Amino acid sequence: MNIKVVDHSAEMAVEAAKIMMEIMKTEEAPVLGLATGGTPETTYRELVKAANEGQVSFKNTTTFNLDEYVGLPASDQNSYRYYMEDRLFNHVDIDRENTHIPDGMAEDIDAEIKAYEEKIKNAGGIDLQLLGIGTNGHIGFNEPGTPFNTRTHVIALDESTREANARYFASIDEVPTHAITMGIESILEAKKILLLISGAKKGQALAEVLYGTIREDVPATALRNHPDVTMIVDQEAYAAAKVPGEEDVHA
Ligand code: F6R
Repeated sequence: MNIKVVDHSAEMAVEAAKIMMEIMKTEEAPVLGLATGGTPETTYRELVKAANEGQVSFKNTTTFNLDEYVGLPASDQNSYRYYMEDRLFNHVDIDRENTHIPDGMAEDIDAEIKAYEEKIKNAGGIDLQLLGIGTNGHIGFNEPGTPFNTRTHVIALDESTREANARYFASIDEVPTHAITMGIESILEAKKILLLISGAKKGQALAEVLYGTIREDVPATALRNHPDVTMIVDQEAYAAAKVPGEEDVHA
């Protein structure tokens, strides 16, 4: 794993956007795996800026998002479709047909899940998967205990995840209880992975990714089984990462 420590999230965004644009410039038909949440917001802003300055075009890019809440329509401000339109798609020259997010309103969720996997396969797989990480070590919405061999599936969200995401909703009761997420096996099939970790709250999760035993209780430890992971970590997260049994990672 490559790890790059940056001072703050603005620098993280610049570095992450650079890596994503590199793929968009070198691949004829780039396929990006995208994440939502607070962490990648500045990265999307950076990509929009670059696209508006003519540094990069999304014309030939296809995207697949990691996850979507079950029960929220695209028009709901908390749906991940809405997030992506608002943060990225509305501001760049991407063809909407090439943007894919699981449909949390699908009548037949099983068919939706199968179709999603099929679409990724037909696109030739994901060139670069962008990831954030939950404080509990989740990637996508693969919560602790998810078997490493899962593919796209429906998951019951952990209470800690619902609490963390309640900041976007009027109350925790409005946070959906389930989501569709790409599975760990599906995520690990991406050719490259770019993991962003920001803030002291993520220190423990970072320490697990770097030093923890690879285990299903901490889904992100599965990333150590992938040959091409780049992590961009801010100082706050890095300083808060403690090696089990030691003072800190810098000792
Ligand atoms: C979002 C996703 C999640 C988030 C994680 C961190 O699509 O898959 O795994 O990356 O919950 O969220 P933030 O960045 O809000 O701390």
